[in-house]
Amino acid sequence: MLVREVPPARRLRGEVNIPGDKSISHRAAILGLLAEGETRIQNFLKAGDCLNTLKACEQLGAGVRWEDETLVIRGCGLRGLKKPAGPIDCGNSGTGVRLLAGVLAGVDFGGPVEITGDEQVRRRPMNRVIEPLTKMGARIESEPGGLCPLRIQGGNLKGIDYASPVASAQVKSCILLAGLFAGGKTNVTEPSKSRDHTEIMLRYFGVKLLKYPIQKRMPDANSPTAHATKIGVQGGRSFSGKDIAIPSDISSAAFFIVAAGLLKGSELDIPGVGINPTRTELISILKQMGVSIAYVKKKKHAGESVADMKVASMVKPPQAIFYETSAERIPSLIDEIPILAVAATAIEQGLTIRNARELRVKETDRISVLTGELRRVGVKIDEFEDGMKIYGGKIIGGDADSHGDHRLAMSLAVAGLVSERGVSVHNPDCVNTSFPGFWELLDQAAER
Ligand code: S3P
Repeated sequence: MLVREVPPARRLRGEVNIPGDKSISHRAAILGLLAEGETRIQNFLKAGDCLNTLKACEQLGAGVRWEDETLVIRGCGLRGLKKPAGPIDCGNSGTGVRLLAGVLAGVDFGGPVEITGDEQVRRRPMNRVIEPLTKMGARIESEPGGLCPLRIQGGNLKGIDYASPVASAQVKSCILLAGLFAGGKTNVTEPSKSRDHTEIMLRYFGVKLLKYPIQKRMPDANSPTAHATKIGVQGGRSFSGKDIAIPSDISSAAFFIVAAGLLKGSELDIPGVGINPTRTELISILKQMGVSIAYVKKKKHAGESVADMKVASMVKPPQAIFYETSAERIPSLIDEIPILAVAATAIEQGLTIRNARELRVKETDRISVLTGELRRVGVKIDEFEDGMKIYGGKIIGGDADSHGDHRLAMSLAVAGLVSERGVSVHNPDCVNTSFPGFWELLDQAAER
């Protein structure tokens, strides 16, 4: 479809079932590949990104079958991976490329293996994984500027102590996965804590991680309490397959939570959402805005915290909130900034987002594309090199383009729901990257 019309909605009501977590699904497939024996996965995200990772795992020797809705992966163990017959194509997924690069670096397949993705992925920086993997002993060729395709000759890795310049779970996970194959210990320090799904799942599979106290570093203007986190793994330890139930993706739920929070009279139940604290910064901000969000029936699934969520709209839009997007908070908010920008139009005095330069190297340059498209639907917004200022005010509506970026498309859809005249979202099909069924679910929940 070329355009989706999203008319304004009165409110959102009912129960919405959000698909499985994208980050956790990637990791479940990859650890299923590296484990010995079978891993059985419930609620694996059947969306473009994760299905590409699953295909890659199959290319590397995993046995993959579906038993109804359960994904069963027969792993190869750390020493049984097969050389893929052709290049590995991760499609739109930067996470897929970076995590799998760590695996490819760990194995000597008797020749290089190529890994790449679609046009958006081929513009994304890979030096952040090329550098540490090369230090560990992999030989990696890339396109100029450290871009995909990467040709990775792996094997014989040695553990390193790596301080990553970016707080990135993809980088951290890539290094930890390579560290599983390396001789000795592999440690990663990151400037602030990024999502920790890889660590949680490794522990769940029985892999002991090396824990270090919080590392102090020189505070800077953006992070007055600056500290870094360090984690490591001892190489060469094999592990066995497990049963995993994947929670619903909080980053996908975010679109429904914001829409329900903003539209007066909304009440929404969202069962089984992952509430890992490295992912919930948006929830804290929405609560400050007066949105009612309750976690009921908290439980753990494969080490991850999960809860049923009850969301009710704010009673009255706030005049201002006291919130500073410090560098330390950004990793737990990064994927939600597009939808936060929509939410922020409901704060009378607006909201300023800084320290979010990483947004420029996501599926699109999300600072430039987001500010441009929100302006087209009547939002007053300033662009900064590392963020934006969103002014409070009604969203008028009109035409806007997703630029093929799934989170942009879904944010613009919510902008349509809360707007005066509705938004026509151009290029809407990219939502399938992370959220198949998004448009139908939105229609089901929105009352007009
Ligand atoms: C992800 C980490 C984040 C996030 C991406 C998924 C992951 O990227 O933006 O959507 O699954 O590890 P960075 O780690 O590069 O910030």
